Amino acid sequence: MSLKMLAPTHIPVLVNETIKALAVQPGGRYIDCTLGSGGHAAAILDHSSPGGQLLGIDADPEAIKIAEERLEAYSGSALLINDNFTNLQTICFKYDFFPVHGILFDLGLSSLQLEDRGRGFSFQHDGPLDMRLSPDQEVTAADIINTYSQVELAHLIKTYSEEGYSRKIAQHIIKQRPIETTLQLVQTIEQAIGGRRGKIHPATKTFQALRIAVNQELEHLKTALRQAVDLLGFNGRLVVISYHSLEDRIVKQFMQQESRADNARLRLINKKVITPSQAEVQLNPRSRSAKLRAAERIITKDEYFKTTEKLCFSVGVEAGGWRRPALLERLRRAFSAP
Ligand SMILES: C[S@@+](CC[C@H](N)C(=O)[O-])C[C@H]1O[C@@H](n2cnc3c(N)ncnc32)[C@H](O)[C@@H]1O
Repeated sequence: MSLKMLAPTHIPVLVNETIKALAVQPGGRYIDCTLGSGGHAAAILDHSSPGGQLLGIDADPEAIKIAEERLEAYSGSALLINDNFTNLQTICFKYDFFPVHGILFDLGLSSLQLEDRGRGFSFQHDGPLDMRLSPDQEVTAADIINTYSQVELAHLIKTYSEEGYSRKIAQHIIKQRPIETTLQLVQTIEQAIGGRRGKIHPATKTFQALRIAVNQELEHLKTALRQAVDLLGFNGRLVVISYHSLEDRIVKQFMQQESRADNARLRLINKKVITPSQAEVQLNPRSRSAKLRAAERIITKDEYFKTTEKLCFSVGVEAGGWRRPALLERLRRAFSAP
């Protein structure tokens, strides 16, 4: 079943808190790096009207199709791009989308992706062990499960999920190979460490680890956070919603580091992490692990002008046909805008 047939059931998480943390204003220019079904994007477009612009990015072409439908009414203000957010800077310069007033990352998967058994993300549905966000990616979860050595598998599971039984699980995987479906993997994990004991299913952590590995989630997040800070204009806001401790640790450490130095580039907006209310968790149980962190860019107009000019050339905009005087003119125009 395709994602489109399952739409629309993804409920955006911490929407009001996101709009507040992004300080969305009419006429502002925003990037949603994890467009999904366009829930946050629609809220950003509503609050930035009139004159707001949104660049929406998603690695999953199915998500882009759904968001295109949902955001049809805003088509003049929204530009939706099917790409990985690890290419954030290149995308912005290619589409002349700067300076930016706010950048959002709502990490992980949408409910639609999780519920689509053909994608293999969930241990609750039987399906092929795929787990790729984009069909353009080469390596699937089955490739990893069936080709890594026992030591490599144990290391991957431990590193990307902090699973205490990683060695036992890896040992059983090796014994049961080839493993091609989610159900086969669930059964293998249950044989290794037993069935459900508390609220957490025994396959939860291994599935998380595989998904992170297949999509290089942590590496891409680190790269994109650095690029996002460079793209933000004066007082621009960076907002990240994460759903597990490995992601949240990266975001927390990044924001703390960038706000601590003498020449700090960020100022923390919320020193304490923002989490959903009980009412939101009741309405949308998938929001329960969400953590929102936000920071504001500290930069002068002069510094921004210089950094952006340097970046434009370093990401090869010239190769795309831009000439230096034209670029400088674009930057000047961008800076005279509100
Ligand atoms: C939690 S969902 C976002 C839901 C969205 N905020 C909404 O309101 O509908 C996360 C989305 O980010 C996308 N995603 C995850 N990692 C990505 C990456 N590295 N590059 C681009 N998109 C990514 C996923 O495909 C998924 O659609």
